[in-house]
Amino acid sequence: MDVIDELKSFRERDVPYTRVLSSMCTIPHPIAVEAHKMFINVNLGDPGIFRGSFELEKKLIEMLGRILHNQKASGYICSGGTEANIQAIRSFRNKNKSKKVNIVVPKTAHFSFDKAGEILCIEVKKAGVDENYRVDLGEVESLVDDRTIALVGVAGTTELGQIDPIVELSKLAEEKGIDLHVDAAFGGLVIPFLDNPYPFDFVNRGVSSLTVDPHKMGMATIPAGGILFRDESYLKFLEIETPYLTSKTQFTLTGTRPATGVASAYAVLKQLGFDGMRKIVKECMKNTKIVLEEVQALGFEQVIEPVMNIVAFKSDKAEKIRDKFYEKGWVISTIREPKAIRLVVMPHVTEEVIKEFISTFKKILSDL
Ligand SMILES: Cc1ncc(COP(=O)(O)O)c(C=O)c1O
Repeated sequence: MDVIDELKSFRERDVPYTRVLSSMCTIPHPIAVEAHKMFINVNLGDPGIFRGSFELEKKLIEMLGRILHNQKASGYICSGGTEANIQAIRSFRNKNKSKKVNIVVPKTAHFSFDKAGEILCIEVKKAGVDENYRVDLGEVESLVDDRTIALVGVAGTTELGQIDPIVELSKLAEEKGIDLHVDAAFGGLVIPFLDNPYPFDFVNRGVSSLTVDPHKMGMATIPAGGILFRDESYLKFLEIETPYLTSKTQFTLTGTRPATGVASAYAVLKQLGFDGMRKIVKECMKNTKIVLEEVQALGFEQVIEPVMNIVAFKSDKAEKIRDKFYEKGWVISTIREPKAIRLVVMPHVTEEVIKEFISTFKKILSDL
């Protein structure tokens, strides 16, 4: 067998996106694929060689900064939300000289904060949530002590797509004189394009940094995560000297790093513009409503009214349902609290896909 046929045979075993309602990634936009191909051999880890690509990255950060209400934002395109979250916390830790420090995150925060805690040797305190699965402000405040260096709020929680009260968290961070990181890995390219966007970003003075991933709703090619800081000073806390490269210092976590995510994210945002993105998000929200009504009609109740294009339905049999879908070639996920199935309605989840999904769901329910 020739190697390409061999590769195809592996690739064919992957589940196609049109059967996936669990992922925050999607089929990249055609312009993203074209842009990606143009940048396949670029190493942004050595920006003096790839000066044009490095300039493009700065333009993309500026573009994201404009969407997120901060023209002066500094940052870079990284491997994903995990790296972005680790780097935000690393910057805050390096800014604070004390040894034993902690951060306060909602218990609904992504597990990348546990990785950050372990790698950076800092305690990660977890605050409970209210009945709508938003972080409980009273609990956050009670967990803050004189070793707390930062708070975290999530704009688009992984499990429910809920938005924490960022406005209030920002005020609290300002009051306590600590940093606030907003994890908008998913919501950062959804919320700005909703009809009534919640002010989750740098518009709040207490927000020091923000994670926003173009490889999720930005329809860029993988990997394309994003970390944006309020200003350049936060990048300085990340700098390490680089003895033999074209740059003297490096603030990124990885050394060699691709520009494919930069090019593909830039291409999508530039080509679609604000109106194009709004159209895509509108379509996803319309399809989320269809999923909501169809699954409700099967006798399920949603955990919360969907805030963005993620919807979860309570069920004691959530895991069994998920496994039955998997047997039939579909991937959905479950959440921990409450027991529920979770569906992410990305651009590849079209009305046609929803029809097939619901008909599979009916068959599964009749077999349960
Ligand atoms: C809110 C949030 N933050 C961070 C991440 C981690 O992103 P990545 O998988 O790109 O590292 C995710 C992934 O689902 C997420 O939903």
